[in-house]
Amino acid sequence: MSDGKLISFEGIEGVGKSTTINSIREYLEARGIEVYCTREPGGTKFGESLRDILLNKKSVITSEAELLIIFSIRNQHISEIIKPKLSQGTWVLCDRYIDASIAYQGFGKGVDLKKIKSLIELFTYNVMPDLTVFFDLKYEIAKKRFPKNKNKDRFEILDSEFFNKVYDGYMYQIKEHDNRISIINANADKKNVFNQITLLLDKKFSFLYK
Ligand code: TYD
Repeated sequence: MSDGKLISFEGIEGVGKSTTINSIREYLEARGIEVYCTREPGGTKFGESLRDILLNKKSVITSEAELLIIFSIRNQHISEIIKPKLSQGTWVLCDRYIDASIAYQGFGKGVDLKKIKSLIELFTYNVMPDLTVFFDLKYEIAKKRFPKNKNKDRFEILDSEFFNKVYDGYMYQIKEHDNRISIINANADKKNVFNQITLLLDKKFSFLYK
């Protein structure tokens, strides 16, 4: 049996990743593919409990401690879930992965990129996405989509300056990994976004449908 594929979904807050991931799951399942949806930070019991601490507005965490928590969660997630699923031939759809660490902790919070790249090299067992879909939407547009009465988490309370830097971080990653990361225009309705992604999948994994 061949290994499954790892597909990650990235973007700043409010770009509509979560709903789209569910439609993509249905699209792949309809083609006979076994699919598992997961997210970061989180994905395991251990990771989900640390996620609560990480996203809690009351938590006081330095940027580097935050980075290390995220990689601790990621290491557990890869060992316990992602690697075993991929080796069973299951496709894993992951809401955020390594690019978020470069964008949020590196560009957003100013942690030295060398440190983040070392953590990627040392603690992810070379488990790289086969495809990363970047939902392209600038903060000024994305923020109009935020529900008015949402109880914002530790990241969502940050300002436009932070999210503009995060966006720049994603642009940096896209330049460095243009073979892996594909950009879709997220300033469109759900159906349009879904169609853009299925086109990408059909192009990238066309051998699977033959
Ligand atoms: P998010 O997907 O936005 O969750 P939700 O849709 O429930 O709000 O992810 C939670 C936050 O975690 C998000 O603000 C980005 C942050 N994050 C990092 O800062 N670095 C990382 O490496 C990852 C994976 C996420």
